[in-house]
Amino acid sequence: MILEAIEKRYSVRHYKDQPVEEDKLAEVLEAARLAPSGSNLQPWKLVVVRDRATIRSMVHAIGGQQFVEQAAVLIVACMNGEGYNIGHRYDGAVVDITIALDHVTLQAASMGLGTCWLGNYDGNEVRALLDIPSGNPVVIILALGYPDESHPHRPGPRKPLDELVCWENFTG
Ligand SMILES: Cc1cc2nc3c(=O)[nH]c(=O)nc-3n(C[C@H](O)[C@H](O)[C@H](O)COP(=O)(O)O)c2cc1C
Repeated sequence: MILEAIEKRYSVRHYKDQPVEEDKLAEVLEAARLAPSGSNLQPWKLVVVRDRATIRSMVHAIGGQQFVEQAAVLIVACMNGEGYNIGHRYDGAVVDITIALDHVTLQAASMGLGTCWLGNYDGNEVRALLDIPSGNPVVIILALGYPDESHPHRPGPRKPLDELVCWENFTG
């Protein structure tokens, strides 16, 4: 069942001019809320933006990617609270936030909604537009909305499993 949602998800870059219902938005946010995190820190704050004028004003900050203004919702994921190490790297919160938002993408796909990860943004510009404190770095942004299916999607190719996986050691 999860694999169905995984197979259904793709980066939606054309959205219908249609709002996302409150209950559906609540469900995708619930999927994020239930995500696991290191020591259960839940070190994120999701800024949910639905105001059309604000979304339009964010296009420039998100790499000038014009399709962003079609999205019904932008979810701007910020770190919240103390950061922490994974291994010896200080990126635990980034891993946690990525998991939480991946839950969002899959829950959205299972309900017929589309998403697109948006990593091409200017953090300072986004922060200024949404009053995000400097202690809460923006990690990633997600566009959300109903896909305009009149634009056919071609799935991006994926590497074969044997290029991505090795067994028992790195050369295995
Ligand atoms: C961390 C991350 C950042 C991304 N940033 C952007 C972006 O700024 N704009 C965009 O159109 N797609 C962006 N993408 C989408 C990828 O290009 C896309 O996931 C990849 O090409 C595979 O295609 P698919 O999502 O349709 O399977 C991003 C994806 C990830 C995971």
